[in-house]
Amino acid sequence: MSHTDPGLLPKVELHLHLEGAAPPDFIRALAAEQGMALEGVFDAGGQYAWTDFAQFLKTYHRACEVLRGPEEFRRLVEAVLAQSAADGVVYTEIFIAPDICGGGDPVAWAEYVAAIVEGAQSARAAHGIEARFISTAVRNFGPDAAERAARLSAEVAGDRITGFGMGGEERHLRAADFARAFAIAREAGLGITSHAGEVCGPESVAETLDHLRPSRIGHGVRAIESPDLVQRLVDEGIVLEVNPGSNVALSVYPGWDSHPIDRLRKAGVQVTVSTDDPPYFHTDMKHEYRMLAHHFGWAAEDFADINRIAMQAAFCDPQTRSAVL
Ligand code: ADE
Ligand code: ZN
Repeated sequence: MSHTDPGLLPKVELHLHLEGAAPPDFIRALAAEQGMALEGVFDAGGQYAWTDFAQFLKTYHRACEVLRGPEEFRRLVEAVLAQSAADGVVYTEIFIAPDICGGGDPVAWAEYVAAIVEGAQSARAAHGIEARFISTAVRNFGPDAAERAARLSAEVAGDRITGFGMGGEERHLRAADFARAFAIAREAGLGITSHAGEVCGPESVAETLDHLRPSRIGHGVRAIESPDLVQRLVDEGIVLEVNPGSNVALSVYPGWDSHPIDRLRKAGVQVTVSTDDPPYFHTDMKHEYRMLAHHFGWAAEDFADINRIAMQAAFCDPQTRSAVL
């Protein structure tokens, strides 16, 4: 086994929520600029305050209230990508949401997207990090909002906005209710992923595969509860965007040792590693790699393997794919 600090290896990240990556200090500074109190967002130590998944989503959306315009998002993208680059991330895919960027208004959305892309370009020039964006629907906003999000995502589909996905409250409605939104996004040529198998069990992953037809699943870890579903993931080559530190923080698993990422990988599932919402879950990519090495004995060649899988599953052009790794 290599003795290199795994935290120092190059990394590919496929699952990072832009607003969920905002450092608490960044949100606090914007709140101060705007004279907003942001009650209940921070704990006594100045970190994001939440107790369970539903509470986490509530705090998340409350913190978003200070992200008021394109300029705030440009600054946020620059800050998040500077941090990712410092953690050794060479390629990243970041979730954004039309419902959060302009509340679904198409003119505002186009301005937000321009600012987000500008932020990514300046981060690339400053730090060499390559970024693509996955535009997402928020599940608990319902199917109509999801279809509107898909249409807005289709309008900006191109070389920077390359995917469509869905996060939010997994217990809300069924995957089939969002099939039309995903069909619109697929038709526009966007790569498809969706959160499933994080809060809900294997049936949620199976329904997502059946009705939304993604090439990747956000989380998907609870597939481990169904051997048939694990085999299906292997057979269909579905890539999981696994966020172990997030799952442990949200008590999907009681600790790292019981997390199924290593078992899924050994069963032949294509797993990748990401942070989800790092400051909320007190993690970063260096920490994830170090914990995987510590708990499962993953070595440099294992990380090289998952990064290869991630780049093969990345929503980017072939030139970028081969240039990154
Ligand atoms: N939005 C931000 N983080 C999320 C997560 N872990 N699950 C679902 N929706 C999210
Ligand atoms: Zn997520």
